[in-house]
Amino acid sequence: MRSFLMILTLCVAAASCSQKSEMDAFIDDLMGQMTLEEKIGQLNLPFTGEIITGPDRDPLAIESIQAGEVGGLFGLTGLDRLTELQRIAVEETRMGIPMIFGADVIHGYETVFPIPLGSSCSWDLEAIENSARISAIESTAGGLCWTFSPMVDIARDPRWGRIAEGAGEDPFLGSRIAEAMVRGYQGADKESQFSQPDQMMACVKHFALYGASEAGRDYNSVDMSRLRMYNDYLPPYKAAADAGAGSFMASFNDIDGVPATANRWLLTDLLRDEWGFDGFVVSDYTAIKEMVAHGIGDIETVTCRALDAGLDMDMNSRAYLEHLKNGLEKGIVSMKQIDAACRRMLEAKYKLGLFEDPYRFFKTENPEEVIYCQEHRDAARKLAAESFVLLKNENNLLPLKKEGTIALIGPLADNGVNLNGTWSVTADNHKNKNLREALEDAVAGHAKLLYAKGSNLVYDADYEERAYWRDGYDFNRDDRTDAQLRNEALAVARKADVIIAALGESAEMSGENSGRTDITIPDAQADLLKALVATGKPVVLLLFNGRPLILDWESKNVPAILDVWFGGSETGDAVADVLFGDVNPSGKITASFPRNVGQIPIYHSIRNTGRPLPEGEEYSKYTTSYLDSRIDPLYPFGYGLSYTTFEYGSVKLNKEVVAAGESLIAEIDVTNTGKKAGKEVVQMYIRDVVGTTTRPLRELKGFEKISLEPGETKTVKFEITPELMSHYNYDLDFVAEPGEFIVYIGGDSTTKNSASFTLE
Ligand code: NOJ
Repeated sequence: MRSFLMILTLCVAAASCSQKSEMDAFIDDLMGQMTLEEKIGQLNLPFTGEIITGPDRDPLAIESIQAGEVGGLFGLTGLDRLTELQRIAVEETRMGIPMIFGADVIHGYETVFPIPLGSSCSWDLEAIENSARISAIESTAGGLCWTFSPMVDIARDPRWGRIAEGAGEDPFLGSRIAEAMVRGYQGADKESQFSQPDQMMACVKHFALYGASEAGRDYNSVDMSRLRMYNDYLPPYKAAADAGAGSFMASFNDIDGVPATANRWLLTDLLRDEWGFDGFVVSDYTAIKEMVAHGIGDIETVTCRALDAGLDMDMNSRAYLEHLKNGLEKGIVSMKQIDAACRRMLEAKYKLGLFEDPYRFFKTENPEEVIYCQEHRDAARKLAAESFVLLKNENNLLPLKKEGTIALIGPLADNGVNLNGTWSVTADNHKNKNLREALEDAVAGHAKLLYAKGSNLVYDADYEERAYWRDGYDFNRDDRTDAQLRNEALAVARKADVIIAALGESAEMSGENSGRTDITIPDAQADLLKALVATGKPVVLLLFNGRPLILDWESKNVPAILDVWFGGSETGDAVADVLFGDVNPSGKITASFPRNVGQIPIYHSIRNTGRPLPEGEEYSKYTTSYLDSRIDPLYPFGYGLSYTTFEYGSVKLNKEVVAAGESLIAEIDVTNTGKKAGKEVVQMYIRDVVGTTTRPLRELKGFEKISLEPGETKTVKFEITPELMSHYNYDLDFVAEPGEFIVYIGGDSTTKNSASFTLE
C-alpha cells in the first residue's frame, strides 16, 4: 500500500514535469527515498527465460522484482504477462518504480522486415526509418518500450556472421541509416521523442568496434588504430548518439586490451565527455561476468571496473546485484558512481513517460489490429523488394515471363520460417508464405510451377543442425540420399523452360556466433547448382544469404543472380514482384563481395599504399597484389543492376577553387536509357588526394535514390560542405586539409566519372 501511495505522489509530480530541471528535481526526490539496495536494483536487467539469446538463463524471479532488485526485463512478450509484471513492480515494491521492458526487435516485431544488411541495400532512408517506426508501433502495442537496435557496427569481414545485422562496410551510409533508425523508433522530431506511446527507446549497439573482431570470429579481440576508429568505425555510433538515441549497449570485445564493458575511455571519455551522450549504457548479455574469462579480474573486480567505466545497467550477470555493495564497502566504487548510474536509469524511465503512467505501453486499442496489419506488411513487402540486388542478368533473362513451365528447386524454396532471417525472435516465423506458395500464387493461371528440393542445406548433418538452430525451428533434413534428391530435381528441371534455384544460407548461418570460414554456397547446394546449369536450361540463382558470399563460379556460369538476403515476412511475394518484373530491382550492395576468403577484410575505401597496383593490372611484382588472385572484389560496394540502364553525364562542379570553410555544389545528369521505369542510387565519392595522413582512395560522401521513367533525365545535386571534406587527422582533430580533392559520381564505388577542385 505504501508503495502505491508513493507512486501516486510521484505521478502527480511527474505529470507536470517537462523541463530537464523538473526531471532532475523529480529524480532527486525519488532517489532521496531509495535505499542502496533499491538503487542497485535499478541497474539490474535479468533475463526472463522466454527467448534464448545467450548461454545462460536467469529464471524469472517474481520475488526479485518484489524486492526491488529489478530495473527492467528483456526478451519477454505478451501483454498480459508484461502488465502483470509491471503491476508487481508498481504495487508490490516499496518504491513502486516501474520497469522497462526491452527486446531484440532488430528488423521487425511481428511484421518482419529484411535483415538490416538487406535493408541497407535499398539505400532508401525513408523506407528504413519507416520500418523502425512500424517496429516501434508494433512493439509498443505489445507492451515493449525499449529495443536493442539499431546495430550500427561497421563490418568488413563477411566471415563474421553478424555482418547480417548491420548496414555493411561504410561509415557514411551506416551513419545515415543509424540516424534514420533512431528517428523511426524514438520519433522523427528530436525535441518530442517519446511524446507518443508508440515511440520506443533505441539502444545503439554494440559499442564499439564489434564488427572488427579478428578473423571474423564472434566475440574475438579487436585491435585498431585511433585513426581508423575515428574515421571509419565510430561515425555511425556518434550519428546515432547525435540523433538522440536513449541508450547504448557495450560490446563484448576488448579495445586496447580492455573489454568495452569496462572501458572507461570508451564509455565515459568518448561517449559522454566527447560526444555528450546523456542516456544510459547497458552491458551485453552476461558481459560483466564474462570479463572474468577475459582475464581482467575476479567477479568483484570486474563488476567494479564496469561501474567505474560508466556502465549503468547489467544485463543478466547479477553482478551489480551481488557485488556492487561489497565494492562500495571496500571503497573500490563510490556512492556517487552508483547514484549516477541509478539516475540515468530513472531518467530513461522518466523520458519514456513511465512515471506518469507505468502502463503507458499497454494501452493500444486493439493491438491485434495494429500488429502485423496489412499496411505494415505492405511496407515490408516494398522494402524487401527494394533490398534485393540483381548481381547478374545475362541476356536479360530476368524478368521472367509468366508462361510455360518454371522449375523451382532448392532446399530454401519451401521453407517459410527461414525467410525472416536472424533476429526475428519476437515474431511468429511460421506465419510466412513460403517462396513456393508465393510463386504459385503469382503464376496461377499463366504458367506451371514445378518444385523439387534438390538437396539438403549441406552434406554434413551436424553442420545442418547447427545452421538451423532456433527455438521452434523444424529441422527439416531429408532422409533421401544426396543422389536421390538431385535426380528428382534434375528430372523436374528437364521438364521446365527455366529454372529458379533457391539456394544459399539458412537464416541461422548468419547472425550471432554464426561465423563461417568458407563463405561459398554450401557444398550440397553448390553441386546441385552445377548439375542444374549442366542441363543447359536457363538458370536464375535466387540467393539467400546474410553476408556477402563468394560467387566466383556462379558469376561465370549462372546467367542470372538475384540476391534476396532474408527479406522478412513478405519475402515470398516480394521475390515474385521482382522475378516477374512488377518491381524493377534497385538494391545496391553495401558490403563488398570478395572473390575468395583470402581477400578479407575487403572494403571500397582502401588507401593507396606506397606501391599501388598499376591501373588495369591484376598483378605486378613489388606492388600491392596477390600471386593467385586479383585484389579487387567480385562485386564492389554500391553495385547492383536494374532491368533498365542508366547513363551518367559528366560531373560538374560550380567551383574549381574553394575557400576554406566554404561549400561547393557537384551536379550530374542521370538518364534512364532503357525501356523500363527504374530507380537508381546515385552515389558521390570524394578523394582527398593529399593529407597529413594517408587517405582513402575514395569515400562515400553522398547518395540519392531517384526514380526515372524511360528516356527521362534528372539532375542530381550534392552540396559538398566543409564537413564532408574533413577527416580526423593524426591528432584526432576533425579537419579539412587544403589541397586537391576528386569528386566521383556514378552508380557504384568503381566509377571513374569525376571532376576535381582545390581547397585553399
Ligand atoms: C547478445 C547480443 O550480442 C546482443 O545483440 C543482444 O541484444 C543481446 N544478446 C540480448 O539478446
